[in-house]
Amino acid sequence: MRPTPPPRTYRVKSFGCQMNVYDGERMAELLAAQGIAPAADGEHADLVVLNTCHIREKAAEKVYSDIGRLVKDGEKAGKAPLIAVAGCVAQAEGEEIMARAPGVSMVVGPQAYHRLPQMLDAAVQGHRATDTDMPAIAKFDALPARRRIGPSAFLTVQEGCDKFCTYCVVPYTRGAEISRPYSDLVREAEKLVDAGAREITLLGQNVNAWTGTDEKGRAIGLDGLIRSLAELPGLVRIRYTTSHPSDVTDGLIAAHGEVEKLMPFLHLPVQSGSDRVLRAMNRSHTADQYLRLLERFRAARSDIALSGDFIVGFPGESDAEFEETLRLVDAVGYSQCFSFKYSPRPGTPAATMDGQIAPEVMDERLQRLQAALNRDQLAFNAASVGKRCPVLVERKGKKPGQWLGKSPWLQSVWFEGDYAIGDMVDVELVEAGPNSLAARPLTLEALPA
Ligand code: SAH
Ligand code: SF4
Ligand code: F3S
Repeated sequence: MRPTPPPRTYRVKSFGCQMNVYDGERMAELLAAQGIAPAADGEHADLVVLNTCHIREKAAEKVYSDIGRLVKDGEKAGKAPLIAVAGCVAQAEGEEIMARAPGVSMVVGPQAYHRLPQMLDAAVQGHRATDTDMPAIAKFDALPARRRIGPSAFLTVQEGCDKFCTYCVVPYTRGAEISRPYSDLVREAEKLVDAGAREITLLGQNVNAWTGTDEKGRAIGLDGLIRSLAELPGLVRIRYTTSHPSDVTDGLIAAHGEVEKLMPFLHLPVQSGSDRVLRAMNRSHTADQYLRLLERFRAARSDIALSGDFIVGFPGESDAEFEETLRLVDAVGYSQCFSFKYSPRPGTPAATMDGQIAPEVMDERLQRLQAALNRDQLAFNAASVGKRCPVLVERKGKKPGQWLGKSPWLQSVWFEGDYAIGDMVDVELVEAGPNSLAARPLTLEALPA
């Protein structure tokens, strides 16, 4: 590669889960701390970071078409951007990217991106570099302070996964489960609140596996961390995602009944309603154990909204086993869910299992599952009409005077009035759609915090 002038503008594009989005924010902060400015929407950026996701084939293949487009547009405009590939595809396929895409000058894994500035110096001098080391905690220590952000912020508290579900790449791309130290998290949460956050979502691939030691030297779990963060005066709402059924503790369930700032929402993926499929997935719980867990959350907090993830067409899944998934959905009554067609991932045990399911069978199962989930989501929203609740304003709506935010149950809510981003507005929910609710503000002004 030829030497290039140091970049003056950057763009970070994130394609993955919320932790991937968090990493994208931190990389943006890192580049800004180097004196590089964010490129305006639609404008050329001298440096583009593609923050990739490897979870399903479609997501992973996207990176190559994106690189191709960046190079082509760059040639047309006479200024090719420096391209960095970050995230989980970088971790899984770093060398392949370097070989397949000569336009890429940096490949950096999700645990190594604090070293991006050094890689950038090398790239400017014409040297390509790959860094897919996994010194997880070093990364957080080396990142700059948080900058001003929106009212709802992410905070990664736990990284990696030791569960090895047989379909999943995350244990390979993110490494072993690691908890960030308690004091670091309290400090980062304080900075986020100082920077304008009123809601913090604690993130981890298995966020409820988080453990630490509090300032009094007591061993605590995620519920202890939540209770501590609830003491921060400026913080109004706490959420967490994603949880694993095997890591749910009595304390976490109890916290939902006791900590007012902890929102009544639980994302607890189950993947399938069939015990045989769950075993083949290495999920370490049965459908019934999962349902009993949800009952305990509901007993602690009767209005808790439930969410999950599903995979249809796992190798060997029979029609009858898929029906068991539909029955589980009927039994729960979810407020919202994610559902996916099984995607075989290189290097995972399920990719070479017998009984891979035909694409048209997967299509049909996904359609039936999503019809059931959409029905339940609409029913949940419809049952919310008439409720009064605070909404945290996150952004402007399409029409002037229109505002969008989230209910405590993570529903999108819109209303009109004289408000600002970051306001907590008490509303009555008046009309339900499948994906959002219309509301009527109960006060003319935003309520004080
Ligand atoms: N750690 C979290 C979620 C990780 S990935 C958990 O275990 O709950 C998010 C979701 O992607 C998973 O819950 C699963 O539903 C889906 N997923 C993961 N690997 C997949 C694959 N190979 N094909 C299809 N969906 C997959
Ligand atoms: Fe993947 Fe399973 Fe770990 Fe979730 S718990 S990240 S699905 S291996
Ligand atoms: Fe994707 Fe990596 Fe997240 S594979 S889902 S970006 S942990």
